[in-house]
Amino acid sequence: MNQDLVLILDLGGEDNSRVVRAVRALGVYSEVRAHNITKKELLEIKNLKGIILNGGKNRIVEGKTIFEKRYIHTIGVPVLSIEHSSPYCNPDIGKLPKKDSELLALLEPFLFEKCKAQPNWNMKNFVNDQIELLRKQIGEEKVLLALSGGVDSSVVAALLFKAVGDRLHCVHVNHGMLRKGESEQVIEVFEKQFGVNLIYVDSRELFLNKLKGVSDPEKKRKIIGREFITVFEQEARRLDGIRFLGQGTIYPDIVESGTKTGKAVKAHHNAGGLPKDLKFELVEPLKYLFKDEVRACGKQLGLPDDMVFRQPFPGPGLGVRCLGEITRDRLEAVRESDAILREEFGKIGLDRRVWQYFTLIPDIKSVGVKDGERYEGWAVIIRAVNTVDAMQATIEPPHAKVLQTITNRILNEVNGVNRVLYDLSPKPPATIEWE
Ligand code: XMP
Repeated sequence: MNQDLVLILDLGGEDNSRVVRAVRALGVYSEVRAHNITKKELLEIKNLKGIILNGGKNRIVEGKTIFEKRYIHTIGVPVLSIEHSSPYCNPDIGKLPKKDSELLALLEPFLFEKCKAQPNWNMKNFVNDQIELLRKQIGEEKVLLALSGGVDSSVVAALLFKAVGDRLHCVHVNHGMLRKGESEQVIEVFEKQFGVNLIYVDSRELFLNKLKGVSDPEKKRKIIGREFITVFEQEARRLDGIRFLGQGTIYPDIVESGTKTGKAVKAHHNAGGLPKDLKFELVEPLKYLFKDEVRACGKQLGLPDDMVFRQPFPGPGLGVRCLGEITRDRLEAVRESDAILREEFGKIGLDRRVWQYFTLIPDIKSVGVKDGERYEGWAVIIRAVNTVDAMQATIEPPHAKVLQTITNRILNEVNGVNRVLYDLSPKPPATIEWE
């Protein structure tokens, strides 16, 4: 790492991410580390310029040992303490200010006057650092990546390709529940434009067959996750001599997994959980980036805007938006209506303003009329939400004009649909996805 670093030590603070982001917003690279980091580990960190002790409501009692030994003050870099006191240190900041601007004003003198840190954190430097680190880690070996086409895996692919070129092997599994045009874009950008080694696996029939007759949402999620691993594993076994596996882990996954004890509401599906005999060493070049930084990194690497600014998309894809048992007609109707929604939101710039928006179809029909005759059709529901961390979400207020256009287009262009509705429920009590 060629950039200066200021560490946040998590002593039970609730706002570790906010402090990291504030330090980075001032142009200085920052990471959160656990309270029990050792003196040796601290001394080994290159370019360490300062330490911020982030205490708070969830005070970590064992953390006090690091102050009793007083070694935190013998590392040779300035220490700033937030909401934490001990016999050896009083808090410099009693409480984290609620406004982001006030926090920046508090941190600025510490970073630049006390720590003398250089504001040299930017994407160009990050990409160069990562390429250097990846080359060091991977050496002359090969690396495998499950490339879904989502933002994170796409940015990892572009970064790995820059670092190791044709020693990167990507596998794109089309499980049949991707959005319209998604697989085509992965092939176009990565295989045709970049020249990445890409294996395209068409598993659409396999997934639909495995999901036949299954209507329980958790069972559907588990089947899609399990089959994905099976297909990916088959491809991995076919490719000989691969030692590394790339993963699109990002920073919130790491910061949150250390502090959150909450019960899982849904079985999220990501490309983990490979069989134990497939022994890969993980490569996670985005693990210190927040989502907006991942997007900036993608832009720096020359990925197209509609890939980089793509909204979040669940691993089980449209499978959890085609409610109950997945049928071909409803799955197609979800895909087509989603494409119309995306196109119309894009035309008026809502695609950049709304955090996540999509359509879904419940497995009930309602009575309608077509050509003067009774006609039972599906209802398409539009959901558009805004959130910071997906833990809570508010709805995007309905925009009457564009919703009317979208409704007319869906009713005219999508087979089997006779109603369009807008979901006004925030999270909680609803979740963002319906299943
Ligand atoms: P919920 O429905 O739990 O969704 O409010 C929160 C966010 O997570 C996305 N989501 C997933 N992402 N794998 C993922 O990577 C999954 O299995 C998954 N399920 C939901 C959802 O789209 C929303 O952005």
